[in-house]
Amino acid sequence: MIMDKSVEVVVLLLSFLSIAAFNFGFHSGDPKVVCTERERQALLSFKKGLTDPSDRLSSWAGDEECCTWKGVGCNNITGNVVELHLGNPISYIGESEAYVRSKLGGDINPALLELKHLNYLDLSLNDFGGIAIPSFLGLLRDLSYLNLTEAGFGGRIPHQLGNLSSLRYLDLGMGYNYIYADDLGWLSHLKSLEYLDMSYVDLHRAVDWLQVVNKIPSLLELRLFYCQLDNIPPSLGYVNLTSLVVLDLSYNSFNYTIPSWLFNLSNSLIHLDLRANSLQGQIPNAIGNLKSLQFLDLSSNVNIEGRIPSILWNLCNMRVLYMSSNNFKGEIGSVGNVSGCIGKNLELLDLSLNQLTGHVPNWLGQLRSLKHLHLHVNSLYGPIPSSLGSILSLRQILLFNNELNGTLSKNLGQLSNLEVLDIGSNSLGGIVTETHFSKLSKLKRLDMSSNSFVFKLVNSSWIPPFQLEYIGMGSCIMGPRFPPWIRTQKSLYFLDFSKARISDTVPIWFWNLASRISYIYLSDNQIGGEISNIMLKSESIDLSSNCLKGQLPRLSSNVAVLRLSKNSISGPLSPILCEKMDEEKNLTILDLSENLLSGELSQCWMNWKFLTYINLGSNNLSGKIPSSMGSLFSLRSLHLRNNNFFGGLPPSLQNCTNLEFIDLGENKFSGNIPNWMGERITDLLALRLQSNEFSGHIPPQICHLTSLLILDLAHNSLSGVIPRCLHNFSLMDTAQDINGRFHLVEQIIFSSYEESILVVSKGIESEYKSILRFVRSIDLSSNNLYGIIPTEISDLSALNFLNLSRNQLEGKIPEKIGGMAALESLDLSRNDLFGEIPQSMSNLTFLSHLDLSHNNLSGTIPLSTQLQSFGAFSYIGNAKLCGAPLNNNCPGDEEFEGLDNVVNNEEESEMTWFYISMGPGFVVGFWGIFGVLLFKKTWRYAYFRFLENKIDQLYVTVVLKLYCLKRKLKKNQVGG
Ligand SMILES: *[C@@H]1O[C@H](CO)[C@@H](O)[C@H](O)[C@H]1NC(C)=O
Ligand SMILES: *[C@@H]1O[C@H](CO)[C@@H](O)[C@H](O)[C@H]1NC(C)=O
Ligand SMILES: *[C@@H]1O[C@H](CO)[C@@H](O)[C@H](O)[C@H]1NC(C)=O
Repeated sequence: MIMDKSVEVVVLLLSFLSIAAFNFGFHSGDPKVVCTERERQALLSFKKGLTDPSDRLSSWAGDEECCTWKGVGCNNITGNVVELHLGNPISYIGESEAYVRSKLGGDINPALLELKHLNYLDLSLNDFGGIAIPSFLGLLRDLSYLNLTEAGFGGRIPHQLGNLSSLRYLDLGMGYNYIYADDLGWLSHLKSLEYLDMSYVDLHRAVDWLQVVNKIPSLLELRLFYCQLDNIPPSLGYVNLTSLVVLDLSYNSFNYTIPSWLFNLSNSLIHLDLRANSLQGQIPNAIGNLKSLQFLDLSSNVNIEGRIPSILWNLCNMRVLYMSSNNFKGEIGSVGNVSGCIGKNLELLDLSLNQLTGHVPNWLGQLRSLKHLHLHVNSLYGPIPSSLGSILSLRQILLFNNELNGTLSKNLGQLSNLEVLDIGSNSLGGIVTETHFSKLSKLKRLDMSSNSFVFKLVNSSWIPPFQLEYIGMGSCIMGPRFPPWIRTQKSLYFLDFSKARISDTVPIWFWNLASRISYIYLSDNQIGGEISNIMLKSESIDLSSNCLKGQLPRLSSNVAVLRLSKNSISGPLSPILCEKMDEEKNLTILDLSENLLSGELSQCWMNWKFLTYINLGSNNLSGKIPSSMGSLFSLRSLHLRNNNFFGGLPPSLQNCTNLEFIDLGENKFSGNIPNWMGERITDLLALRLQSNEFSGHIPPQICHLTSLLILDLAHNSLSGVIPRCLHNFSLMDTAQDINGRFHLVEQIIFSSYEESILVVSKGIESEYKSILRFVRSIDLSSNNLYGIIPTEISDLSALNFLNLSRNQLEGKIPEKIGGMAALESLDLSRNDLFGEIPQSMSNLTFLSHLDLSHNNLSGTIPLSTQLQSFGAFSYIGNAKLCGAPLNNNCPGDEEFEGLDNVVNNEEESEMTWFYISMGPGFVVGFWGIFGVLLFKKTWRYAYFRFLENKIDQLYVTVVLKLYCLKRKLKKNQVGG
């Protein structure tokens, strides 16, 4: 989508520039004109100041006639140098090495001033290392074109540029060094200026920017993209800018209503871009004055609201309309009684990411020029109108994440220019056959996932008319046979047939095809077959929850994500781990859990330096943790639970300082919990050593793990006292979100792993996944711990679950236990605790599971609806305890009617709470990344290159997650 948009802009710009063509008498390479010696010397001095790594100015040498030099243009009569075209000639898309090498740098030698007739100076796309724009450029009186775009100038823009009274084109946009102007008064002297681009220049101090610009009536094109402007006067006494054709004020911080003076630019304005500001309120009907408008972008102004004014459909010249990520509500609206020009020119309509409801209007079928229809992520319902099938110009239909229902119209199969059809995550259904695709010969991306479609091919040897690059069919019924027509698709890079009810063995040809597909998702089917002899080559493969057999397949070095969990794969790990040890491996995520793997973890981990997530849980693996695992410097998550591992933790593991999740539960590990666990692995979020044979004391160093959310040491042979310093677990102390800590960037880029861990709470073991970050739990139960419960534990006010049961703890329950306000489950049973139950405990309003049984507690159970709501089982085995809900009355008490045991029905509301807290957290993380991308240009390029390769899968994933979240919230609010 991003790409499409820039194409639109370029097309528009080109058509505009071709109108305003130059006529400078530029004549390069004519042997008849001879440049003056003085100017030749000046050019040589100028060259001397420059650095030129690629030697692209090699022709600037010796006695050669300088009008023939590269980039030099002379007047074809006088021989004066009039033009210098020194912009980087290499395309900057992707910042290739050649592009970087071909940048000029160094200094701008004042000898340039000898070129008295210079009227064209282009230094764009070079790197002058942040030096200031030389103020003497203001002395080049004849200059009419100055382009310093991305030339690496920095600092303050010199006022002297205001002396260039002939200037028509001034392009200072897109600096990658910090560049600013505090006062733009000088601009108003440029009486001939037609084109001004100061994008990326920090103008936030130039509060009067608009008044200044308003003094340049000659202006045709004004681009102030990302200038940190926040001041946009709502009205302007007299609007001078009557010739303005292009106005780009996108990515600033205007937080006012759409200013009314804009609508006075009615005669000329063709292109208006106000994207990504904080504009508010409704779109005034006055927008209908802008009769010439062809391009309007109001997207990503989340406070623009109300209904979409139907006057928009009356703007007959409109070609491109972006209104995504606003807060539009209601129906898309009707064309009403408009002039009948609707649809003559509209090529792109983007109303995505709003809160639109109602049907996708039938009249859209009248938009005869429409190429891109983006209505995704709204709440539209009803069918996809079959009228869309008559817009033969359509290239993209994006309707994913709505509530559309009904079946797919066969008319859509007529769209012979359609390249993208994404209708995923709706409630569409019905049977889909070949005829739905009969003429879609240009289709490249097809996403119908998360609907209830059933694919029933009439002809099983169907050869589709298209060659797809992307096919998303998750949750559509494609089975039971493995779809044979996939074999004809030679350009696929993304394939999702997860949850597609395929119960078939993988055909041999598929693995050949698969080696060219970068992303393969076939999880949750009943796909069988041997995979021992397969070589997997895709970047990301998910075959989990199937019936695959045999030994592990081999991996090429570019595989980054491999998920084979929940299959029946047997044999050792070595086929994956120990092959081709000399190659650099890219594997980041390895999930082989819940298979039948056996044997030891070999010493082959040295080469897997990008491994971030390892899950080998629930297999039959045995032996010790090999010391070579200590070379996994990137490792964040290590899950080895439920195997037969034994021995101590190797000291080398302390080199894995990035570890955040360690789950070694249900094995036979023994020895002490090492001190280095707290000293070196300081970012740990979850430590689960449950059901092993660890012995010795809990090292006090463990309290250095200040980020710990989950500590589970239950069912071991630990002895000694509970360290008093537990209150250092500062994340258990506050309910703050730790979003940033979950390394969202990697999660997103590597198609994400979702952490999950088993937590015993309320007596039940549950697997916590996405809400994990909001769970705080300590379980030290079933050990031989003695001494008192440290009073400091009551500082852990965000702790949800505490289990200290089945130890030999003595003393009193800490008096201030009521301070643990978030506690939902508390189990202190089967210890030797004595004394009374603290009164403060009745403050634990979230408590839904309590077990104090089998201690020596005494006295009256404090009265509160909460404490009495638990059954007697929560208190039994304390001979001297009395009062409700126990049946024994306390001495001197009257008969007390015990409250009925309230059935514990808190599960739902807990989830609701977790989801509600997760919403903002996720959004923060999401914008965190995009914010950074916005600022850091090199990242941006890398990112967009990535996007280009993967087409915006990533964006879709994020949107999808957000959307699923929204859905869940809705459901819970309705249901709970
Ligand atoms: C010089 O350039 C002008 C403008 O491009 C052109 O019209 C004219 O014919 C040229 N004269 C010569 C002698 O080439
Ligand atoms: C300035 O140079 C850049 C990069 O070469 C180019 O994209 C831009 O169109 C130029 N500006 C003008 C006004 O010609
Ligand atoms: C309109 O432009 C003229 C010419 O530059 C200038 O003198 C005048 O002050 C401008 N008017 C306003 C209201 O800025």
